[in-house]
Amino acid sequence: TLANIGVIGLGVMGRNLVLNMERNGFTVAVFNKTTAKMHEFIQGDAAGKRIVGYETLADLVKGLERPRRILLMVTAGAAVDAVIAELKPLLEPGDILIDGGNSYFLDTERRSRELEASGLWFVGMGVSGGEEGALWGPSIMPGGSPEAWQALAPILQAIAARAEDGAPCVTHIGPGGAGHYVKMVHNGIEYADMQLIAEIYDLLSRGAGMSADQLADVFAEWNEGELKSYLIEITSHVLRRKDDLTGKPLVDVILDEAQQKGTGKWTGQNALDLGAPVPTIQAAVESRSLSAMKERRVLASRVLGGPKPMYQGEVKPLVEAARQALYAAKIIAYAQGFELMSMASQEYQYNLQLAELARIWRAGCIIRAALLEEITAAYRRDPALPNLLLDPAFAQAVAERQTNWRWLMQTAIGMGIPTLALSSALAYYDAYRSERLPANLIQGLRDYFGAHTYRRLDREGVFHTRWNE
Ligand code: 6PG
Repeated sequence: TLANIGVIGLGVMGRNLVLNMERNGFTVAVFNKTTAKMHEFIQGDAAGKRIVGYETLADLVKGLERPRRILLMVTAGAAVDAVIAELKPLLEPGDILIDGGNSYFLDTERRSRELEASGLWFVGMGVSGGEEGALWGPSIMPGGSPEAWQALAPILQAIAARAEDGAPCVTHIGPGGAGHYVKMVHNGIEYADMQLIAEIYDLLSRGAGMSADQLADVFAEWNEGELKSYLIEITSHVLRRKDDLTGKPLVDVILDEAQQKGTGKWTGQNALDLGAPVPTIQAAVESRSLSAMKERRVLASRVLGGPKPMYQGEVKPLVEAARQALYAAKIIAYAQGFELMSMASQEYQYNLQLAELARIWRAGCIIRAALLEEITAAYRRDPALPNLLLDPAFAQAVAERQTNWRWLMQTAIGMGIPTLALSSALAYYDAYRSERLPANLIQGLRDYFGAHTYRRLDREGVFHTRWNE
């Protein structure tokens, strides 16, 4: 019998998606460039299952029912173009190629145009949830044509994570590169979420002297309340873990240099292109860059003075302020990410349904969180909401926490503990709620040195002043 879908690339994500599809009743044909890896999979985890291995792409294509559905799970970049080039002559009009990697959305736009010119469908598809998600249910963000979505929906709805209400965490995101665009912003928010957590950890450990074990308890407790989320949960697991070699908390022996593969940076670059302010996402990317300059920081730490991070007060109120600040800052990071997506939706005509995006992030993906239930509700109340902060429930949520948040930031600054993400989120909040910002002075300066002109508050038109007269 012919397979329902083919999967190319048997890295851990590819293998786990194959197993997930098979478990849900589909027959899967698989191929891997290094043939040994395919055989290893077929004889190992895939043994006895409706999974068929092929040594050539031509044979894989022959083994598929039509229209063919072929999922590429290869490293983003040149490898995707290489496989497409090899596959293209083997396919027929109506066949569907799906790219499930973290591809750059403009690459996806280009590939869609190229393939659709020859009658093939191309679906750029974001997949989130890591190894476990791929196996048991990821959040899936497919873009591309509605026709291709129709052909894929039965498989994707079967393998996706299910939220508490039972709805599968997948929807047709929009045309062209919309799926990869939304996955990119998901990752930008993921960077911000993680950086906010890391700064809170720094404040409470380096600042207030709490141990990794104590902090594991704190995060475990927070995971019972409004902060409930996958990242908070695994933070408590990471903090709890002891190192096999030294017996110390493992987190204390891990090198403090964060790596990155590019999706957060792309989010920041694209936000700059669109003029969308996402300072907390930018702060998260830049904090990783700062962390990566370990040698320079070691040198600088010997010559640049500052206060000693030593919190003197009671720990309990500080922990509570940290909890509230983290929740408020998290709302703001999401507000930035969603406003970016609404601006991108206009710019690229993606017609993004923000409530649907929040809905499919409620389970399966890395940023799944109780908060996403609230965000879904907010965009259902008002699909055209310009910014989450303008939803009455969110406005109130931040307002109620701001006293504690401001106090926490004052404490951090007093101790000399860097909080690029936490403090940028607060500054964004203060800027967003300012009727008047000091850009009047910027305009005055621009007009002074370059005759760039300015507009006035009190009358129409464009003005220039001869400042030296
Ligand atoms: C996900 C993750 C996944 C991957 C990131 C990591 O949603 O499942 O985001 O896509 O773990 O690409 O990105 P960095 O290596 O840049 O941190």
